[in-house]
Amino acid sequence: MQTSDSKGYSAIGVFRGKTNHNMGTLWRSAYILGAAYIFTVDGRYKKQSSDVLRTWSRIPLFQYKTFEDLLNNIPHDCRLVGIEIDDKAEFLHEFQHPKRAIYLLGAEDTGLPEEVKAKCHYLVKLPGNSSLNVGVTGSIVLHDRVSKMPTDLPPNHQE
Ligand SMILES: C[S@@+](CC[C@H](N)C(=O)[O-])C[C@H]1O[C@@H](n2cnc3c(N)ncnc32)[C@H](O)[C@@H]1O
Repeated sequence: MQTSDSKGYSAIGVFRGKTNHNMGTLWRSAYILGAAYIFTVDGRYKKQSSDVLRTWSRIPLFQYKTFEDLLNNIPHDCRLVGIEIDDKAEFLHEFQHPKRAIYLLGAEDTGLPEEVKAKCHYLVKLPGNSSLNVGVTGSIVLHDRVSKMPTDLPPNHQE
């Protein structure tokens, strides 16, 4: 199992996400599972605040207009991890998460385009040939990260 003796951080977002409900699910999981922030790239969802945990008040949402905008704002020494079913992708359970990572999911209808996948430092997939829901996928990825790197959880979540 991967261990980590110093704290890193993660962020997670969706490229051209469509559904408000999926963003809400992802936002909530991101907060609970210790992500520093979430983001959209060219988001298509309609904003709405029905979240009982008031997640928007706990971790920020950044909204990038374009993928180039995201690339230009990646923090120093942080890796972009594309999450997609792809022959070149590694399986999540075997993946060693970078200490500082930004996870990028694809849209509900179109997934991650080839040119976006080509710019990711890593590509990671979950088992199976059929797509999972995007919010569920992001939640599983973040859970995998904290199970391998428990120091990434906020202090009140650590045992
Ligand atoms: C509903 S899927 C997109 C399906 C789209 N129609 C396609 O064929 O690419 C939305 C996103 O969830 C993520 N996803 C879903 N299942 C996945 C899996 N098994 N492995 C990796 N990512 C997955 C990917 O980021 C994907 O772009």
